[in-house]
Amino acid sequence: MAQKVYTASIVGLEGALVTVEADAANGLPSFTIVGLPDMAVKEARERIRIAIKNSGYVFPRMKVTVNLAPASVKKEGAGYDLPIAVAILLASDAFRERVKDHGVLSEALVIGELALSGDVRSVHGALAIASSSNALGKHIVYCPPHNTREIRLLKEMTVIPVPTLRALMEYLIGNAPLAPDNEAFSFDAYYKAPLVDCSSIVGNEHAKRALIIAAAGNHNLLMSGPPGSGKTMLARALPGIMPPLTHDEMVDITRVWSVAGLLSHDQPWLVERPFRDPHHSASLVALVGGGSNPRPGEVSLAHHGVLFLDEFPEFPRSVLESLRQPLELGQVTIARAQDHVTFPSRFLLVASQNPCPCGYLGDPVHPCTCAPGLLTRYQNKVSGPLLDRIDLHITVPRLPVEKLEGDGGDPSSVLRDVVHAARERQRQRFVDVPWKTNAAMPSEYIRRSLVITDEAKVVLRQAVEKFHLSGRVYFRVLKVARTIADIAKSDTIDVSHVAEAIQYRFRESVTV
Ligand SMILES: Nc1ncnc2c1ncn2[C@@H]1O[C@H](COP(=O)(O)OP(=O)(O)OP(=O)(O)O)[C@@H](O)[C@H]1O
Ligand SMILES: [Mg+2]
Ligand SMILES: [Zn+2]
Repeated sequence: MAQKVYTASIVGLEGALVTVEADAANGLPSFTIVGLPDMAVKEARERIRIAIKNSGYVFPRMKVTVNLAPASVKKEGAGYDLPIAVAILLASDAFRERVKDHGVLSEALVIGELALSGDVRSVHGALAIASSSNALGKHIVYCPPHNTREIRLLKEMTVIPVPTLRALMEYLIGNAPLAPDNEAFSFDAYYKAPLVDCSSIVGNEHAKRALIIAAAGNHNLLMSGPPGSGKTMLARALPGIMPPLTHDEMVDITRVWSVAGLLSHDQPWLVERPFRDPHHSASLVALVGGGSNPRPGEVSLAHHGVLFLDEFPEFPRSVLESLRQPLELGQVTIARAQDHVTFPSRFLLVASQNPCPCGYLGDPVHPCTCAPGLLTRYQNKVSGPLLDRIDLHITVPRLPVEKLEGDGGDPSSVLRDVVHAARERQRQRFVDVPWKTNAAMPSEYIRRSLVITDEAKVVLRQAVEKFHLSGRVYFRVLKVARTIADIAKSDTIDVSHVAEAIQYRFRESVTV
């Protein structure tokens, strides 16, 4: 009789059910695995054979056939070792009679890689698999001990850690208990101090104010300034002033990191907003995701957090253009041979650039040494449509030494409270609409629903005329003004909010 054990393969961020069927028949001893396994599954044969032996059991001296179904699901990695080994043993004469209830595993998923010793090793994507398990009709997960923590983010799941192949088999026979992981845990131990605390940033009040606005309304930010002016430092301070992750956001982002294989014993969850800063030499796949069995890229690893692109114009144009879809839709779609997978990518973009290749354009002391042609090429490197997705454009000037000796100002925790209050106002305002932040307001809503004083309208109209602002920029200024008003706890956008918002259109004001 063939024995079935259920496991799952990862497709994008979802688990796809895989049925492992093992049959042990009389005949010349052999061991075959069918069902489109790739190289890794073939290697599994040796590991499984030795792990069974080292667990104190006998590999059946029979014609053993294992089928992983359906064949159409691509299977990669070593996470099928444990379910295959269990299925084989259950099908063998030695166990068939001894296991009383063959239905124990019918409602469960079994995942885990085997070491030659029979120990169960952790796998990538355990949380993604477990998140899909209810949809797959399975409510229990037998998994490697190191993966239990990430799965416990899902409160409704029964997670049973399996330290060794032997532990699971002896449990199935009824010789030894195997208990669910019910140990109480807290996220507190996993919080770290912010990468950069705002109290350590001296001066740069204008830039710090822009960080608060960016975090409060979820506005993307472009900083332009000479080398050493503190752009990188400012960007690193941003996650520390954003509101804490909600539980659902924590699950979302941990799932992405789980599939990417970035979780560890020390970091089984993401409790804080991620900060990703890929280098401009990073490949397109590294940035947006991809591969034959697609993996999430930096835009998805930064989901619910910050994607920092330092030296923005140095990124290849193809890479920059590929950011448009994730910025627009909050997700990336990656084509595969037959179909496609989707990864979430709702990040806050912070980009930085020097004002010119030599870095000193506009500097009161250093002269700029760039040839005019070079300058234009540099400034045109980032396309208009991409810049259009960035609500806040600021300059970060180099501070004179005497200012650098000054005080740093408010700590991140204080600024975070300001941001949190502004977000709360947005949450209440946007209860009935699909968007939740000012940055995501559609123009139609801005036109109809925002309350703006007549005075503020006049100022805005004057700015549009003076700087030849486009219609798109007009709406963008209003979005930022709305966030500034939220920070000021005002339901009406007044002249001071609009006037400040216009300042963040630095690009238009210097190029026209
Ligand atoms: N306002 C500031 N307050 C405190 N330290 C600062 C400030 N500005 C710069 N620094 C110091 O200068 C260093 C360089 O800053 P940072 O790397 O952020 O500059 P940058 O603008 O990113 O430069 P580059 O264009 O070369 O990347 C920081 O590590 C920090 O020690
Ligand atoms: Mg820098
Ligand atoms: Zn220059």
